Amino acid sequence: MMKSISLFIMVSATLIFIQSCYYDNEEDLFPQVCDTIDVSFETQVLPIIEFNCHDCHGELTSVQRGIFRFVSYDDIKAKADSIVGAISWEKGILPMPDNLPKLDNCDISIIRSWVNAGAPDN
Ligand code: HEC
Repeated sequence: MMKSISLFIMVSATLIFIQSCYYDNEEDLFPQVCDTIDVSFETQVLPIIEFNCHDCHGELTSVQRGIFRFVSYDDIKAKADSIVGAISWEKGILPMPDNLPKLDNCDISIIRSWVNAGAPDN
């Protein structure tokens, strides 16, 4: 009986000890790398546009506001250069997202790199 109790305590103590080592956070383990090589429209560009632009340039919101619609590949490809200008806050083009903070550098680089690669449907 004593034996199994002390075994139980030892196992628990070991588990608690192991658990307490997990202080690493995601950022330390996987330092943020901005991957702009072979950017995919489907898995990288579109999600950035959906998240940051669809409140105003989505399927319905673009109709309501009478502005560009950036929903399909064709919509986005057709306006690719303006999109890069707008998110980079270039002179002569309205800075986007409208009245909101600039996108983070990695998102801008991803979109720019996709456009530089010829805006492929990939
Ligand atoms: C809060 C609403 C809002 C959001 C969010 C928004 N836009 Fe816009 N955008 C506008 C409005 C309004 C206009 C049109 C202004 C006009 O025609 O006078 C516009 C115009 C544009 C234009 C044309 C600019 C020009 O000078 O020709 C581009 C390109 C554009 N937006 C890209 C984007 C992109 C890319 C995003 C996401 C990163 C985005 N917008 C997010 C409201 C928004």
